[in-house]
Amino acid sequence: MLGVVAPWRWLLALCLRLLFLVPAGVPVRSGDAGFPKAMDNVTVRQGDSAILRCAVDSRVTRVAWLNRSQILHLGNVKWSVDPRVVLIANTKSQYSIEIQNVGIYDEGSYTCSIQTDSEPKISRMHLIVQVPPQILNISTDITVNEGSTVTLRCLATGRPEPTVTWRHYAGKSCRFVSDDEYLDIARISREQSGDYECSAANEVAAPAVRRVTVTVYYPPYISDTGNTGAFVGQKGMLHCAALAVPLAEFHWYKEDTRLSSGLDRVRIENKDHMSILSFFNVSEKDYGNYTCMASNKLGNSNASVILYGPGALQNRSNSPSGTLAATCLWCGVLYSLTAF
Ligand SMILES: *[C@@H]1O[C@H](CO)[C@@H](O)[C@H](O)[C@H]1NC(C)=O
Ligand SMILES: *[C@@H]1O[C@H](CO)[C@@H](O)[C@H](O)[C@H]1NC(C)=O
Ligand SMILES: *[C@@H]1O[C@H](CO)[C@@H](O)[C@H](O)[C@H]1NC(C)=O
Ligand SMILES: *[C@@H]1O[C@H](CO)[C@@H](O)[C@H](O)[C@H]1NC(C)=O
Ligand SMILES: *[C@@H]1O[C@H](CO)[C@@H](O)[C@H](O)[C@H]1NC(C)=O
Ligand SMILES: *[C@@H]1O[C@H](CO)[C@@H](O)[C@H](O)[C@H]1NC(C)=O
Ligand SMILES: *[C@@H]1O[C@H](CO)[C@@H](O)[C@H](O)[C@H]1NC(C)=O
Repeated sequence: MLGVVAPWRWLLALCLRLLFLVPAGVPVRSGDAGFPKAMDNVTVRQGDSAILRCAVDSRVTRVAWLNRSQILHLGNVKWSVDPRVVLIANTKSQYSIEIQNVGIYDEGSYTCSIQTDSEPKISRMHLIVQVPPQILNISTDITVNEGSTVTLRCLATGRPEPTVTWRHYAGKSCRFVSDDEYLDIARISREQSGDYECSAANEVAAPAVRRVTVTVYYPPYISDTGNTGAFVGQKGMLHCAALAVPLAEFHWYKEDTRLSSGLDRVRIENKDHMSILSFFNVSEKDYGNYTCMASNKLGNSNASVILYGPGALQNRSNSPSGTLAATCLWCGVLYSLTAF
């Protein structure tokens, strides 16, 4: 029955206090050949069992293990109500108890207290409880516009306190960015988008690792266009590529008229970063200056792309870069050049 303590136990406890619990000024003799001799500090992982050993000899008449000032076990008698406390040895040479499924509250100092014919002695040891690193709270994936300020959070626990580091993964590259639980990115750029990995490490176990994906929106930037030559009656093709997040939508204009697929004897195909304007059957009036417009919710960007006729190609044959064009004309082969 918990709470009700037999009178003899009270008496015993009183005796123990008088006999064993040596005043603070008395030195702990753990270095000399005398007894008791408790082991050095014990380090265990949370959830494991800790064994507290105390060396004794035949002179010992009473022996106990205490948690701070509370008696856990006195000889063969268990005082602790905690089922995790188990006596594992009470022999002529050794008095040991086990604490099963150790938790962080068990950390602290434990005392082996003995009574010999001559005098009471104590020996202290420290139970150190380790906990593997764990990430408790990490920012969720976010999407921001270029130029915003972003703060990522990675709150971790463990014993000893884990060190937290952030790494940035963009494509195949990986870069250390911070060793703080909070990662501040002021005026974020498109290059700073990607995965941010938080790693919490201590010496107890493998680091805990989690990632946050940061998506940075930015307006389109037209990275590539191709001016192309084409013959009347043949097929022709213009292309336009734009970097943008989210992906750009493309529109093509001739002068101020927007072209649409199917009509105007053209087809517009968009794939990822690229738009292709195809002419089924080029006619004289198709030659000229086209505008490719790439847009997303953050803005738009225009570039002009030219469909050349054979006349322009012939004129260009005077320049070194036109040699290929001239050869193509000679051969009468349909070609598509992007490097005029
Ligand atoms: C030791 O004492 C602490 C503080 O009272 C307590 O939280 C813990 O559970 C005790 N551990 C054992 C094994 O008695
Ligand atoms: C045992 O642990 C205590 C508390 O952490 C520390 O003060 C003491 O130096 C340690 N003793 C040994 C032998 O490691
Ligand atoms: C994580 O921390 C943030 C800010 O401190 C808090 O608002 C949020 O509720 C926490 N999330 C969890 C799952 O604890
Ligand atoms: C291309 O257009 C011309 C005149 O518009 C026509 O005569 C010719 O048959 C067309 N060619 C093809 C392959 O459709
Ligand atoms: C095409 O049009 C754009 C804008 O209308 C102009 O800036 C550019 O110079 C033109 N290019 C050619 C080769 O005429
Ligand atoms: C791009 O062209 C379109 C259509 O001509 C026009 O409305 C838009 O303002 C232009 N944008 C830029 C940035 O020049
Ligand atoms: C080709 O060059 C000639 C004279 O150099 C010029 O008259 C003609 O307009 C040019 N044609 C084109 C399509 O630029």
